Amino acid sequence: MSSKKEHVCPVEIAGHLDSRIRRWLQNPEKILRPYIEEGMTVMDMGCGPGFFSIDMAQMVGKSGRVIAVDLQEGMLQKVRDKIKGTEFEKRITLHQCGKNKIGLSEQVDFVLLFYMVHEVPNKEAFFSEIKTILKQGGQVLMVEPPFHVSKSAFQEIVRKAGDVGFTNVKGPNVLFSKTMVLAKKEK
Ligand SMILES: C[S@@+](CC[C@H](N)C(=O)[O-])C[C@H]1O[C@@H](n2cnc3c(N)ncnc32)[C@H](O)[C@@H]1O
Repeated sequence: MSSKKEHVCPVEIAGHLDSRIRRWLQNPEKILRPYIEEGMTVMDMGCGPGFFSIDMAQMVGKSGRVIAVDLQEGMLQKVRDKIKGTEFEKRITLHQCGKNKIGLSEQVDFVLLFYMVHEVPNKEAFFSEIKTILKQGGQVLMVEPPFHVSKSAFQEIVRKAGDVGFTNVKGPNVLFSKTMVLAKKEK
């Protein structure tokens, strides 16, 4: 467990996470293409204003589902506003979680953790719960930012994921980021 209080990204700055320039620098489709297939159930954990959620919904197609999860109702409201009246309204389920409890029993094929794990207070409990949600053979893509999260802090996060039963392999190159792909250890 972490002793210091983790900073949570304020809803007021959500616009910075959802800009055109970011789309150009960190294109969701390009980043996620190797992990998401049509028909999958996928989770955008710590979805913020839904920069990735909408592309994920496009990628899973009509037969798939996206569960967009965030701690802050204000972030979920931004996603709700964006998908209102679109085909994605049926495909994206919004879920407000607790700081140390995701609270979902559904199983998913893929979990995206983009720029959010450093904000989670109890990372061991968090990864344990992600493990119960992820299907055997499923993948987690974790991406952390360059300045808030040092190399050693990132290694520490990966170690904590390993302690609860995740294997790791180097993730894709994402501009300005540290990445890792996690999978459940074989039973
Ligand atoms: C920096 S933002 C990133 C948002 C989005 N993933 C993106 O890349 O655009 C971090 C998000 O994680 C959410 N968050 C922080 N702690 C969380 C927790 N314990 N569980 C779920 N979401 C959390 C925040 O509310 C915020 O929306």
